[in-house]
Amino acid sequence: MPSSTLKKKCVVVTYPLPQKHLAALAQKCEVIVLPAGQSLQTFLPEGNSVCGILCLLTDSVDAELLSRFPSLQFVSSVSVGVDHIDVEALSAKGVAVGHTPGVLVDATAETAFALLLAAARRVPEADRFVREGRWQPENRWSPDFFLGKQVSGATLGIVGLGAIGQAVARRGQAFGMEVMGWTPSGRKVSGVESVSLDALLSCSDFLSVHVALVDETRNLIGAEKIAKMKLGAVLVNTARGGIVDERALYRALKNGDLFAAGIDVFVSEPVEPDNPLLSLENVVLTPHIGSATASTRGDMVHLALQNAIAAVEERPMPHCVNPQVYT
Ligand code: DGY
Repeated sequence: MPSSTLKKKCVVVTYPLPQKHLAALAQKCEVIVLPAGQSLQTFLPEGNSVCGILCLLTDSVDAELLSRFPSLQFVSSVSVGVDHIDVEALSAKGVAVGHTPGVLVDATAETAFALLLAAARRVPEADRFVREGRWQPENRWSPDFFLGKQVSGATLGIVGLGAIGQAVARRGQAFGMEVMGWTPSGRKVSGVESVSLDALLSCSDFLSVHVALVDETRNLIGAEKIAKMKLGAVLVNTARGGIVDERALYRALKNGDLFAAGIDVFVSEPVEPDNPLLSLENVVLTPHIGSATASTRGDMVHLALQNAIAAVEERPMPHCVNPQVYT
């Protein structure tokens, strides 16, 4: 059969990525780019031709969606986290799932540390104070003016000692912090004292969360664990919203049990306008910008495309979360 009459493979891309990124994929297969704002849920594939989806972490890929793509062979996400994908359902159908580990480690660790410092030294609150004209001659400077929490010499507790947790640990050490950690796998990391989660909560002046969101870590830092945190501690979460109970965190911040928090990820994103955390001065909030540097986001898109191209060429994806589908 002449090659022109063979059915061409088709990949759906859920976000209008720059052409320079998509060109290499478009040489291998037909590419359908969904217009900005159109969700996968409302896309109706024609016939059975879609073999792959290249998506973002804002796209939910579940069993229902899978049933509408009978020829699906792979999903490649521009993210390291895959909690928006039902990996179990896809694995059961032999669909490979790709992600982008490694390239966002430093950018995310920088965000965690930026939030830690900003929350400790009340940087956004101080910025608001100056801009709103509240800095007046009578409160120009005094020994107890705008006091924050000292970072150097404090204990930093890391929940999850994967690559990002380790990168945050190195930053803590560079700031003269004592670093301790707990990880669900029990992994030991040199230079970081391993302790139980409860010991970590009670010893840490700063607690930074770096576990993936899976069934076992959903609400890991719930009301009971927050109650075990050291009085006056600071909590930083750049992992996923579902790991920390936002209501319990709100209560602890409001009561003054915790000094402050730095939060980049929320249970519901974008954050709901009635989220109580928005009403507190002692929380620094950012809109899921952990990996948001131009070079890191470019590297993430590049890795996701490498995964997709490998899958279109019927090679194993270089970064696959369910490699068992290949055996
Ligand atoms: C990811 O890739 O999972 C990150 O949350 C993106 O910032």
